[in-house]
Amino acid sequence: MEIFRVTGGAPLVGEVAVSGAKNSVLKLMAVALLAQGRTTLTNVPHILDVTIMCQVLRRLGCEVTHENDAVTIDVPAVPGNEADYDLVRRMRASINVLGPLLARCGEVKVAHPGGDSIGSRGLDYHIAGLRQMGAEITSEHGFVIARAARLTGAKIWLEFPSVGATENLLTAAVLAKGTTVIDNAAREPEIVDICAMLSSMGARIHGAGSSTLEIEGVEELKPVTHRTVSDRIVAGTWAFAAAITCGDITIRHGVAEHLEVALDKLTTAGASITRDDSGFRVHMPNQPKAVDMVTLPYPGFATDMLPMAITLASVSDGYSLLTENVFDARFMFVNEMMRLGAEIRTDGHHAVVHGKSWLSGAPVTATDIRAGAGLVIAGLRAEGVTEVSDIYHIDRGYPGFAEQLASLGAKIERVSAPDPEFP
Ligand code: UD1
Repeated sequence: MEIFRVTGGAPLVGEVAVSGAKNSVLKLMAVALLAQGRTTLTNVPHILDVTIMCQVLRRLGCEVTHENDAVTIDVPAVPGNEADYDLVRRMRASINVLGPLLARCGEVKVAHPGGDSIGSRGLDYHIAGLRQMGAEITSEHGFVIARAARLTGAKIWLEFPSVGATENLLTAAVLAKGTTVIDNAAREPEIVDICAMLSSMGARIHGAGSSTLEIEGVEELKPVTHRTVSDRIVAGTWAFAAAITCGDITIRHGVAEHLEVALDKLTTAGASITRDDSGFRVHMPNQPKAVDMVTLPYPGFATDMLPMAITLASVSDGYSLLTENVFDARFMFVNEMMRLGAEIRTDGHHAVVHGKSWLSGAPVTATDIRAGAGLVIAGLRAEGVTEVSDIYHIDRGYPGFAEQLASLGAKIERVSAPDPEFP
């Protein structure tokens, strides 16, 4: 078992570079299934989840290579059509093969992913939308089984702008007969990225980035080379890390336009933010001032940034009210923050945080990717040593996290520690 040992104190100062978005590339890899032949994705981050998605595609009969920052996927004429629980449980993005495989193969069997550590994560919008497009869907022995000789275009209205449902419906609709309209669609930059790749493959999509997507189905798509959009959550993590540690970080390849609400909150907290063509810089000269934050679908404040928001509030001057509207169990992270001395009270999906200048180092456990990053950064603003365990979560989403932190002046080391259950 490996842990991060963090010694608090130093502000983070310097420059980091952000690579492609985890939440985009995994979905783009599933999009590749829509066309026979070789698709290449560039600006791919070096994270564990990409390795797992490569395995998912190999099990579906694709030849996959991952070298430097590129993944090449050679899709056979008839790909496999089953994603088992073992894969879906390891990485939820595996369910993104549902739409493309149904469109390509006419039948698909994907294990139901169930919930995870950030909350319950349903599939009902995915299923309802595919049924509207003519799919027959059953649930058997933990699998969702979908069949449709050819899907037909439909008018679909999503109850909530779900990212996953928008992706699965969009990637099913591109090869359907006729036109599909998805209303109340998700507007995240990662959805725009998928639309850009699909369009260059020959799909006809209007309204990318708006809440109405109109998709005219085509007979066939062709493989392409596509560059993955920059990771706004990683860029946002660095922006908050600068504010939390009273530091000064220049975030190269960070797209400030994808983080407007988050950067506005940092400005209210006292940071100065400057933008140029290659990224943006966040400088926090003094202890941050408390600000209220509410998570919402894009372009609102991202739920993935909630741990960073809680950490910021915990070291700010005053009281902050934080509200989580997307995932019901995100506040699990609060218990770990309280071990670091944070003063937080939660009630339902609200948390009131009483900030203080410094936290107090302690052993804590990463419960998911973003919570893990939040705890490491909290440790940098804590007196003494913080040991963060279960750091494999962090490896799933942050390429070279410890190395990048060290380059900014953080005292952090990755060390082997005995597993407490098998000392
Ligand atoms: C979500 C985030 C996305 C983030 C990703 C990774 C939102 C809106 N989505 O996407 O920004 O990058 O996690 O952490 O912020 N739901 C249902 N039934 C469904 C589908 C979804 O009830 O069929 C619910 C979920 O339980 C959740 C909400 O809708 O409460 C949003 O889900 P969704 O956007 O689909 O989640 P992800 O695609 O994982």
